[in-house]
Order: sequence, then structure tokens, then C-alpha cells
Amino acid sequence: MTDRELLDAAYKAMEKAYVPYSRFKVGAALITPDNKLYTGCNIENSSYGAAICAERTAIAKAVSDGAGSIDRIAIVSSSGEFTYPCGICRQVMSEFMSEDAVIIMEDCQKGITEIPFKEIYPKPFSKDSLK
Ligand code: THU
Repeated sequence: MTDRELLDAAYKAMEKAYVPYSRFKVGAALITPDNKLYTGCNIENSSYGAAICAERTAIAKAVSDGAGSIDRIAIVSSSGEFTYPCGICRQVMSEFMSEDAVIIMEDCQKGITEIPFKEIYPKPFSKDSLK
């Protein structure tokens, strides 16, 4: 699947965003090493802290379906600008991202960017610390 196709899957997932509070829609689409696609949107709640980000929705769907790792994840939002994952999502992503996993984003002016996950979250808390 190309970056374009993965971004388009993320935009499609974004249409389902439940965002009555922020009105900020986010969509995510990830690919596993065996080429399975999982998508997600953000889901807000009247108890604001209970909101779930799009990335974690997609990851929960993938992991609960038996996926062990993620090779690429596209993240888009209704802002039309690059939308970087929040800190909680970076930590959750760090649990499942493959060694050379990348995030893919799009800005309607600047185009598509692909960034190694390790670049945006270089030193995660990990299971190594729990030994
Ligand atoms: N949001 C995401 O879905 N992913 C992120 O990485 C950043 C923030 C959502 C949460 C909330 O529904 C809205 O964007 C505004 O914070």
C-alpha cells in the first residue's frame, strides 16, 4: 500500500470522528508487517479526559485482532496541517512500532512527509525498564 493509499484510508476513518466538544477530527490508518490495514478516529466524551485519540483507536483494533506490530501509520486531521501524535499516543505506539516504523502525515500546502517513529519519540519508557 502506498503512502497515498494509507493517507486516504486515514481520511476515510476521520469521517467517523466523534468530536462534539473539540470539533477537531483525526483519522489514523496503520499497516502491519503482514499487510493488514486497521483504521481509527478520535472518540470524545462528555467527561473530556475519557477521549480516545484516533491513533489509539486504530492500535486497539489491530492488537485486539491479534496484530503484534506496526510498520507504518498515517495520521491526518481536519486542520489540513501536519498532525503529530500526542504524548500518550507516542508512548502507546512505542509498544508496537517495528524497528524501522514510520509515521506519515500530510499538509495541504507542504505535501506528504514520512518520519521515522524513533525521530519523534527516541527514548520511550519500555519493558526494558521493568526487568
Ligand atoms: N487527538 C487525536 O486523535 N490524536 C492526537 O494525537 C492528538 C489529539 C484528538 C483528541 C481530541 O479528540 C482532539 O484531537 C483534540 O485534542
